[in-house]
Amino acid sequence: MKFSNSAALAFAATAIAAPSTPTLQEKPREVQAGCASAVTLDASTNVWKKYTLHANKFYRTEVEAAVAAISDSSLAAKAAKVANVGSFLWLDSIENIGKLEPALEDVPCDHILGLVIYDLPGRDCAAKASNGELAVGELSRYKTEYIDAIVKILKAHPKTAFALVIEPDSLPNLVTNSDLQTCKDSASGYRDGVAYALRNLNLPNVVMYIDAGHGGWLGWDANLKPGAQELAKAYKAAGSPKQVRGIATNVAGWNQWDLTPGEFSKASDAKYNKCQNEKLYLDNFGPALKSAGMPNHAIVDTGRNGVSGLRQEWGNWCNVNGAGFGVRPTSSTGHDLADAFVWVKPGGESDGTSDSSATRYDSFCGKSDAYQPSPEAGSWNQDYFEMLVKNAKPSF
Ligand code: GLC
Repeated sequence: MKFSNSAALAFAATAIAAPSTPTLQEKPREVQAGCASAVTLDASTNVWKKYTLHANKFYRTEVEAAVAAISDSSLAAKAAKVANVGSFLWLDSIENIGKLEPALEDVPCDHILGLVIYDLPGRDCAAKASNGELAVGELSRYKTEYIDAIVKILKAHPKTAFALVIEPDSLPNLVTNSDLQTCKDSASGYRDGVAYALRNLNLPNVVMYIDAGHGGWLGWDANLKPGAQELAKAYKAAGSPKQVRGIATNVAGWNQWDLTPGEFSKASDAKYNKCQNEKLYLDNFGPALKSAGMPNHAIVDTGRNGVSGLRQEWGNWCNVNGAGFGVRPTSSTGHDLADAFVWVKPGGESDGTSDSSATRYDSFCGKSDAYQPSPEAGSWNQDYFEMLVKNAKPSF
């Protein structure tokens, strides 16, 4: 992820002097990091019943800077509340592992810090917007400079609880985009890399969820079984790690949880997909995972799915125009397989640039339902953030 200089500077400043802007906070932030003794997460249970997703320092800083730039005071007051919502921190490059220690400094004992593991060689093989720093073939760098470095930090902080989303889009791409040369080239590195991550991040204070795309991706009849098998293969190659709880779905996605009939159920191909919302996806993919031999509980990203009916096609993924923040993180999902609704994608950070001359320009970010202009993936888009606040459902 590329950060704008101002966001990076703001973050550096908070790392030195913890910000205390009482107007932006509903309750005082706790300063103590972690618990008094080592944390043991039991991945055979729903840890979100006990732990609250932490509103991490980095996103909080981005949001606070955004609030300061809003002149409409009623919108600013709403936007300020976003700073208190828990969300995941993306470790999307070796350099950005540097965010991890500052981010865990203010995590209280009853909170869990969410991290996205996202740096596979040949990343984002079926798109261009999030191509990463490691090239195909650099698996040993992924292992030693990326995963091992994170493992070291997590081991050094046994009194803090961590929830990990493992490598968004990677295994799903191998299921549905294996005809692309880029995905063919990435395949063995993805499989080995994910297995290595799962095996080595299998620590007592960590619970892991492997990314499983969403209902409009692996939810197609023809993809359910191969998808479940692909994920289960990585899980087994890692030695069936105890701390894997299941899957993450709808990461950075737009699907509704239980809208009925589903958003695309009138499409001509709808008969080939029984997973027209994320709840139905869990109903169908959950059993497939179980028979493939892996744990099947899930966390579902509701960060930006407040508004439905915006996409012209289900596969449109980039900066969807008209979007709003969705349901706040909670373990009250009403579904046995859904451990929690969480915010994984930090709303306001772009999915990809709309500048067609950029190296990482992907045509999806130039579609008519994509918000334009949009900056590089991961960079802050103030206008988009304000739109998410205005269209939030439930509202702020
Ligand atoms: C995109 C970007 C990545 C960023 C993430 C969260 O995937 O490529 O850099 O961290 O979104 O905004």
